[in-house]
This record gives sequence, structure tokens and C-alpha cells, in this order.
Amino acid sequence: MPAIRPATRADLPRIHEVRHGTAENRLTDPSKVTDEEVQWYMDHAIFLVSEDDAGTVQGFTCANHQTGYIWALFVIDAAQRKGHGSALLEAALQRLKDAGHRQSHLSTGAGTGAERFYGAQGWAAMGQAVDASIVFRRTF
Ligand SMILES: CC(C)(COP(=O)(O)OP(=O)(O)OC[C@H]1O[C@@H](n2cnc3c(N)ncnc32)[C@H](O)[C@@H]1OP(=O)(O)O)[C@@H](O)C(=O)NCCC(=O)NCCS
Repeated sequence: MPAIRPATRADLPRIHEVRHGTAENRLTDPSKVTDEEVQWYMDHAIFLVSEDDAGTVQGFTCANHQTGYIWALFVIDAAQRKGHGSALLEAALQRLKDAGHRQSHLSTGAGTGAERFYGAQGWAAMGQAVDASIVFRRTF
């Protein structure tokens, strides 16, 4: 059973491994994600990790409590399809709800497993963004 908890600075090396441990939706330009942004999500917004039964971090999510935006959701390839992604997303949405939101949005690569995952989790595809990714929205 995945266990969800807030991320800490000590998790950052493992979070980096998870971020670069997925075949799909890889960062083509790592400079697009700055250390400042990661730090901001940890200090001010919603930054959660998911641990397996052995206490190893296998996934993480970052969400913006001000806008309702899901900035990141990643589960390392070897631990996918074990419930980490849905548990992280559910926990992030609960925190957005607690912050007063009634909807959330995100974007993900077209034709990826993530696109199918969000469809299965009740997110509605709203069309393609300018970078050809698919924008999803969910009300709750
Ligand atoms: C998308 C992602 C976060 C899903 O995490 P996960 O831990 O594998 O998802 P879960 O185990 O919670 O899956 C729950 C359900 O979603 C659906 N689902 C998940 N991955 C799927 C896939 N690749 N294809 C089709 N459906 C999928 C299934 O219905 C699944 O239930 P099941 O395994 O019992 O059939 C993960 O695959 C990932 O990190 N992908 C690479 C990075 C990425 O694309 N992130 C999103 C960027 S915005």
C-alpha cells in the first residue's frame, strides 16, 4: 500500500532519480525545471511523496494551492501500476479542496500512458495546448 507524506529536503536526491526514471514525459530540457521552483513547491505549496512498504520513495507530486494546477506527478517506471500515482493524485486533490478549490488542471504528453491514466481517473481532456500536450481538467 502506498504511503503518502510531505516531501522534505532529504528526499530531493531520490525525487531527482524518480523524475529521471520514467521513459515517458521525460524532461527534454532540464533547465525548464529550476531549483527555485522545486524549492517553492516544497516551502509554500503542495509537495508529496509516495513510499512503498519498505519506505522507499517511488513517486512524487507537486500542486499549486493558489491556482489548483498540478505541476508534476511522477512514479518511477519499476513501481508503476501499483497505486502510487492515483494515491498521490487523490492526496493532492484533497489538499487543493482544503485550500478552497473545486477544480484542478494539468497538461501531459499526447499518446502517453499518463493521458490514459488521467482519463481513467475521471479527468476531462480539454484539447491540445500550444506545445501539443493535452490539457486536462477535473472538478471535485
Ligand atoms: C502517469 C503515472 C503517474 C501513473 O502512475 P501509476 O502509479 O502507474 O498509476 P496507478 O497505479 O495509480 O494507476 C491507476 C489506474 O490508472 C490507469 N493507468 C495507469 N497507468 C496507465 C497506463 N500506462 N495506461 C493505461 N491506463 C493506465 C489504470 O486504470 C490503473 O489501474 P490498474 O493498474 O488497476 O489497471 C505514471 O505512469 C508516470 O509517472 N508516468 C511517467 C511520467 C508521466 O507521464 N507523468 C505525468 C506527467 S504530467
